[in-house]
Amino acid sequence: MSFPTHRPRRLRRTEALRGLVRETRLSPAGLVYPMFACAGTKLRQEVSSMPGIHQQSVDQIAEECREVESLGIPAVILFGLPEMKDPRGAISYSAAGVVQRAIEAIRKAQLRLIVITDVCLCEYTDHGHCGVIENGEVANDATLPILAEQALSHARAGADIVAPSDMMDGRVAAIRRKLDENGFQDVAILSYAAKYCSGFYGPFREAAQSAPQFGDRHSYQMDPANAHEALKEVALDLEEGADIVMVKPALPYLDIIHRVRERFDVPVAAYNVSGEYAMVKAAVQNGWLDEKRVVLELLAGIQRAGANIILTYHAKDAARWLKQC
Ligand code: PBG
Repeated sequence: MSFPTHRPRRLRRTEALRGLVRETRLSPAGLVYPMFACAGTKLRQEVSSMPGIHQQSVDQIAEECREVESLGIPAVILFGLPEMKDPRGAISYSAAGVVQRAIEAIRKAQLRLIVITDVCLCEYTDHGHCGVIENGEVANDATLPILAEQALSHARAGADIVAPSDMMDGRVAAIRRKLDENGFQDVAILSYAAKYCSGFYGPFREAAQSAPQFGDRHSYQMDPANAHEALKEVALDLEEGADIVMVKPALPYLDIIHRVRERFDVPVAAYNVSGEYAMVKAAVQNGWLDEKRVVLELLAGIQRAGANIILTYHAKDAARWLKQC
């Protein structure tokens, strides 16, 4: 029995009917807003390839965090632009580092925001790689203690969740052990479990001043052609103690988000990255796309694929639009 008994258009007739049968309901409650903390004072500099997104000094950051909270967005993820870089990224685990001070500023402002921190070396090393270099290569095991120290320093400063994005093998276990040994068993780990070697990180590398000075990230980030390997990465990170797993970028990897959601019983996050944001913004600036429509459509797509949590530079705009709907 098909037409004329079945008429799917019956349930599309009015906005009220469409709302009643809607399968994916976007809410600010699942969004995370990424922010860039830099050294100095009174600085607020827009990233040229990411209109609306700023690098800002620690004294400025709480103000935007207050706005984020008032929009109903529950969490921010912090990236740091340190005042100096060295081969080992030593400043990344200093209590006086930019991210550590930014966390303290947010805590001092008495905000309820969940503070997530990106744990990686690329913003802190002079060579821009996500690990230390030995014999011309990014050395896996030698990087782990530095990542663990960095995560611990974020926890000490008051982070709720640490999010390793370096793609070294074994980092989740190293971080979990370090946090537990120091009494931070309640600090959660959101691992960038399936992080692809993507061209869509371009604008971020301007924002975070973290482009590799030689070579590329193919020896540690995943090959975009692989899907089974993503499931293996996720399984390993969960075994090591990850609480939330992330797929990154989002839009070219909706199939991966879906498969991870189907296979594993943990919260799944997706990172709608800088290049995905820049593409939309550029088209909107040219008058080629309707920003509100396409952003809400993209975010609904990422959620429909299976993401419970979406990290996105569109978070503040999306939260405003969702309030109006
Ligand atoms: C650091 C890191 C990157 C992003 C998040 N953490 C960049 C990279 O791996 O080069 C990308 C975020 C974005 O593009 O929005 N390793």
